[in-house]
Amino acid sequence: MLNKGINLLLVSSMLLAGSYIVGKSEIEPEPAIVDSPKVIAHRGANDRFNESTITAYKIAAKDDVDALEIDLRMTADGVLIAMHDETIDRTTNGRGSVSDYSLEEIKEFQTVGTFDQKRIIEEIPTLREIIETFKNTEHYYIETRLVNGELLMEEPLIEGLLEYDLISQNLVTIQSFSEESLTKIQALAPEVPLTLLFGKGKFDLKKAKTSDYPIIGIEASDITLRIVNELHRQGKEIHVFFNDRSTEREEQRRVYDLNVDGYFTNDIRFTQDLLKQDND
Ligand code: G3P
Ligand code: CA
Repeated sequence: MLNKGINLLLVSSMLLAGSYIVGKSEIEPEPAIVDSPKVIAHRGANDRFNESTITAYKIAAKDDVDALEIDLRMTADGVLIAMHDETIDRTTNGRGSVSDYSLEEIKEFQTVGTFDQKRIIEEIPTLREIIETFKNTEHYYIETRLVNGELLMEEPLIEGLLEYDLISQNLVTIQSFSEESLTKIQALAPEVPLTLLFGKGKFDLKKAKTSDYPIIGIEASDITLRIVNELHRQGKEIHVFFNDRSTEREEQRRVYDLNVDGYFTNDIRFTQDLLKQDND
């Protein structure tokens, strides 16, 4: 009888302790992994210039961001260019899939945009042109994708980065929604930090926690305190991207309070001001 009482007491104490930990994790954010959260210029300073252009990256670099985010696509003749979409329809004066054009053909088209009521035109840059512009003065946060379902961009990408000696200087992070692509990058260049991205509404905490990647990329609306805390306890950095520009500022403020480690920002100055609070 006495033993049963002691056992009951023990079990209740354990349950109480457990609920305290769970309760605590739900209300208290764990510290970030990094000392200072990273400002990652999403497709360059796309709020002030045509996205993924040399000028957009120059503006971001001048703002002293921590990294330039670059989406890669591959032309029909195997050249890596900075372009988010599979086609050039949305951001240029051309039409069609990047992979259907040779570099020479795609260079006939230009990116187009309107900023401060002015129409802006600039050429589509290759990755090599971007690296030639910034050399080892910037950190390149590069996103790989499959090319028509195939792992074609990883080898030329790593070759190019090695040629400019960027990997050994810790100037590269590679991100992808494709685990296949990350696995290939890991085999080619094991020292490059990798970010596994999860699309909006597709976040999988178990996969994020058990995967081998040090950084997890999540769309803002999928982020909760529990997710951030659980990943931080695993030692993983959380980098947030923002699909909805209309809610981006409020979402940045919200995830700031959760201690996330990086912002793929479409609004560099806003993010920098937000993070300045840490130093005030
Ligand atoms: O790379 C982070 C973020 O850019 C992922 O989404 O579609 O903008 O490339 P997306
Ligand atoms: Ca991207």
